[in-house]
Amino acid sequence: MLSDEMPLLFGEKVLLRPFTQADIDDRYIGWLNDPAVVRLSNQRFRKHDRESSMRYLSSFSGTGNFFLSARAMSDHRQLGTLTAYLSLHHGTIDVGIMIGDKSVWGQGYGQDAWNTLTIWLLKQKGIRKLTAGTTSVNYGMIKLMERSGMTLEAVRKEQELVAGVPVDLLYYAKFRQD
Ligand SMILES: CC(C)(COP(=O)(O)OP(=O)(O)OC[C@H]1O[C@@H](n2cnc3c(N)ncnc32)[C@H](O)[C@@H]1OP(=O)(O)O)[C@@H](O)C(=O)NCCC(=O)NCCS
Repeated sequence: MLSDEMPLLFGEKVLLRPFTQADIDDRYIGWLNDPAVVRLSNQRFRKHDRESSMRYLSSFSGTGNFFLSARAMSDHRQLGTLTAYLSLHHGTIDVGIMIGDKSVWGQGYGQDAWNTLTIWLLKQKGIRKLTAGTTSVNYGMIKLMERSGMTLEAVRKEQELVAGVPVDLLYYAKFRQD
């Protein structure tokens, strides 16, 4: 299943669809350059513009990896993005999320987008294990992964620096059950 062949996915508060060129607008580029949004992501070390965003979008074409736009169910405005990198040979898929619209943080949009995508992915042919990772100080992300039924499978101690402080990288996983 390629990302451009995937159906629209409906959660309770968000809908997910493939990210397109038209989704690269000033709001989106603003999120990537917003220190609060990328504080715990390695995107913080880069400067983003329309061109770098187009390059990133192109990097998905024909790969089987997913780049999705998460949109509010109510008015379809873009709230953030999700990615999923597939390793078909191993039957694994690594998922990431960015809710760029800070005004909706803490209202369940991230959880809904995460659950909607991960439940769907684990039903797809050839996928047997879902993985994701974050730093030990990304409390929102940890909560979101744990509430989706993922469990901690590995820790890389003091692997990254956040504001100069060494923090652990936490690796979570969930296996397909059937
Ligand atoms: C992490 C992120 C996806 C969470 O999205 P969200 O829409 O705010 O998440 P939800 O509202 O669905 O929250 C899930 C739970 O985590 C909690 N939470 C969210 N942010 C939190 C924070 N900074 N500290 C503690 N708890 C937090 C929420 O309160 C909620 O728990 P509750 O229902 O018990 O209140 C979002 O903040 C984000 O995209 N951040 C920037 C990018 C990022 O860090 N991505 C992950 C990189 S690995």
